Amino acid sequence: MTRPAFAEANPIAPAALLGALAVPVALLDAGGRFRYANPAAEQFFGLSDTQLGQIRLLDLVPPDNPIFQLIAQVRERGITVVDHDLNLESPRLTRRGITVHGAPLPEEPGSVVLVLQDFSAARTLDRQLSFRGAARSVAGLAATLAHEVKNPLSGIRGAAQLLENSAGEADRELAVLIREEADRIRALVERMEAFGERPLRCEAVNIHRVLEHVRRLAQSGFAAGIRFQELYDPSLPPVAGHRDQIVQVLLNLVKNAAEALVEAKTPHGEIVLATAYQQGIRLAAPGAARALHLPLLVSVRDNGPGIPEDIRPHLFEPFVTSRVAGSGLGLALVAKIIGDHGGLIEVESRPGRTEFRLHLPIFAPPETPPERDAISGDAISGDVISGDFGRVRA
Ligand SMILES: Nc1ncnc2c1ncn2[C@@H]1O[C@H](COP(=O)(O)OP(=O)(O)O)[C@@H](O)[C@H]1O
Ligand SMILES: [Mg+2]
Repeated sequence: MTRPAFAEANPIAPAALLGALAVPVALLDAGGRFRYANPAAEQFFGLSDTQLGQIRLLDLVPPDNPIFQLIAQVRERGITVVDHDLNLESPRLTRRGITVHGAPLPEEPGSVVLVLQDFSAARTLDRQLSFRGAARSVAGLAATLAHEVKNPLSGIRGAAQLLENSAGEADRELAVLIREEADRIRALVERMEAFGERPLRCEAVNIHRVLEHVRRLAQSGFAAGIRFQELYDPSLPPVAGHRDQIVQVLLNLVKNAAEALVEAKTPHGEIVLATAYQQGIRLAAPGAARALHLPLLVSVRDNGPGIPEDIRPHLFEPFVTSRVAGSGLGLALVAKIIGDHGGLIEVESRPGRTEFRLHLPIFAPPETPPERDAISGDAISGDVISGDFGRVRA
């Protein structure tokens, strides 16, 4: 193959090109040692290129991992081999759903160039967009339900209450049952109302104050006795969001974590709340005009049993629950609110480690700086917590 003329005229250092790539690229020598890793690969493996230069891939990934078969094939046959959905997992590394391209480097016999693509973020995005649709259809349903159900329901409840007072002993029990069930339906309808379309007024939200507030609420209620760990980046700029809705989101996530820990009777159950700034995270949403810049990462992690395998594909859809008395609305609401904020959710779950990661936009101050009291914080309290908040059944 002849080199194109423009490459001859403007030589570019290949290292600079590789360095600019957002895709992890690494070169292994014939002995499986790292000979090169671009910055994206350093990030992928969580090690600097100097550190990588001292180890083999085998030190990061167990020998029975299919990636080694792929590498062997590249070496044996001298061709490019691609494998999808590989999980690179070890105590030092957790990367799932990775597409790996292995290519030979004829100049260096035995060497293999690896290109590692993590499509999980794109996939999460994909899925979350369809959840948004699901949440929307619930919004319409919710409005109708609220109208059509609430009025007759209060009639039923009132009638049952009258019966309670006048009925004999045996029938009173039934009247109480009707009243209690009517209350349960009412609570459900009210939870659904949270899906109604409300215009989102974004302000600068101090996410650490929100997390602190949620932790206190949780520990004084449904998560009493569970250990919390907070790993905050104190320099984090404010989130562009609606404070009460973000409280709701985090409360739902923390509540799910607490419920999972309690139900599985996890010894040393722990919930970790963390924040971080991710300079480089730009996600191109399918159909979106431009890439979303979502540098703020807020995560809720627990060491519970993990999300049941069978509900994972539909996790964020309404009414998907593994709990006898669950509503399955918690995560649907989380998806809706984060979607309304232009944010993204990622989930990673296996036994012993479940993490929900929220990628959120940063608050861009208007031309004139906002008034101090326009900044949301604990001062605006009176929890507008519709729905998914109550005590965990022990
Ligand atoms: N941290 C978690 N650990 C394990 N399972 C979880 C976790 N968070 C959510 N889930 C699963 O997701 C399901 C849906 O959660 P959610 O939408 O909040 O509804 P609900 O809590 O009413 O069941 C739960 O029933 C549970 O099976
Ligand atoms: Mg829940």
